[in-house]
Amino acid sequence: MRVGNKNFRTVWLQGSSVFLIEQNLLPFDFKIFESKSYQETCRAIKTMIVRGAGAIGATAGFAMAQAFLEAPEKELWSFVEQAKKEIEAARPTAQNLFFAVNRVYEVAKQASESKQSAVAEAQKIADEDAENCRKIGEFGSQLIQDGSNIETHCNAGWLAFVDYGSALSPVYAAKKKGQKIFVYIDETRPRGQGARLTAWELKNENVPHTIISDNAGAHLMSHGKVDLMIVGADRIAANGDVANKIGTLEKAICAKEYGVPFYVAAPTSTFDLNCKSGKDIPIEERSQDEVLYQSGITDDKRIEKILVCSPGSPAINPAFDVTPAKYIAGIITEKGIIEASESNIKKLF
Ligand code: MRU
Repeated sequence: MRVGNKNFRTVWLQGSSVFLIEQNLLPFDFKIFESKSYQETCRAIKTMIVRGAGAIGATAGFAMAQAFLEAPEKELWSFVEQAKKEIEAARPTAQNLFFAVNRVYEVAKQASESKQSAVAEAQKIADEDAENCRKIGEFGSQLIQDGSNIETHCNAGWLAFVDYGSALSPVYAAKKKGQKIFVYIDETRPRGQGARLTAWELKNENVPHTIISDNAGAHLMSHGKVDLMIVGADRIAANGDVANKIGTLEKAICAKEYGVPFYVAAPTSTFDLNCKSGKDIPIEERSQDEVLYQSGITDDKRIEKILVCSPGSPAINPAFDVTPAKYIAGIITEKGIIEASESNIKKLF
């Protein structure tokens, strides 16, 4: 992806450092964060310097590689196993994190040169993530007609993966084909991933768009303004239920009511066949401060955090919800577009 006239990935490993686009500063400032240890990388995942299922996954894979590089020769496996637990505790919902951590660990375990193998496997996961998202773009763009109005929730663009993104990859591919498209971006309270990150990405890529408040979707759909909806996923259960950013479920129900096809885009690394249904997916609860406070930039360019709720009132902050498979028109994967059903999901693996 391009920022200004330079190509960037969201996350990369160089030597023993992990480099991340500092997403908490976007869209107001663009900075690269360098993490020199696996523990620092864990903190970056927790504090959402890096966020989005695929980007979290690739970063967690790199954190495992860092742990192998940092491990003292004599205590290699006890060190690495402790690190694995810490990385897995960083965020609970995105399946890509567990996928990447386990893959790096298992491959390194089988290898004679475990440190080098861990690094190579983590790089491979990141490269595969980029390539799979590119393919999601190819398949998903077949759903987009010239003149389509697309709604999306949260940020499942290139910032949420290593490159291309999931839900936005079909948008970029359609744009590249020369199709005229328009994107409605749900602001995505409380953290504003739509208003801040998706809007910033689409502006960089010259895709016509507008931000809508989270509660405007039903109104637009009921007036025929939305032709299709594409969202990402943090974890997909064996029966096709999908965990995604809080607010997704409401959109899916509205889409069904108004006959708007509701698609989910995700690589196979987001599927968790150990979860039989959405009920088995762990849902992260985050700090109430994310609901009570907002941060933004003043006219004289200072980033400030302010209270936006009644002082002293508490808030709850579930970060994800689960959309049952019955609301989903199809899941766009790197292997093609499939129906959200157990039999079709099984065929992917
Ligand atoms: O809490 P986040 O920002 O890490 O949430 C993840 C997401 O960005 C969304 O749920 C997204 O739609 C799926 S991740 C590609």
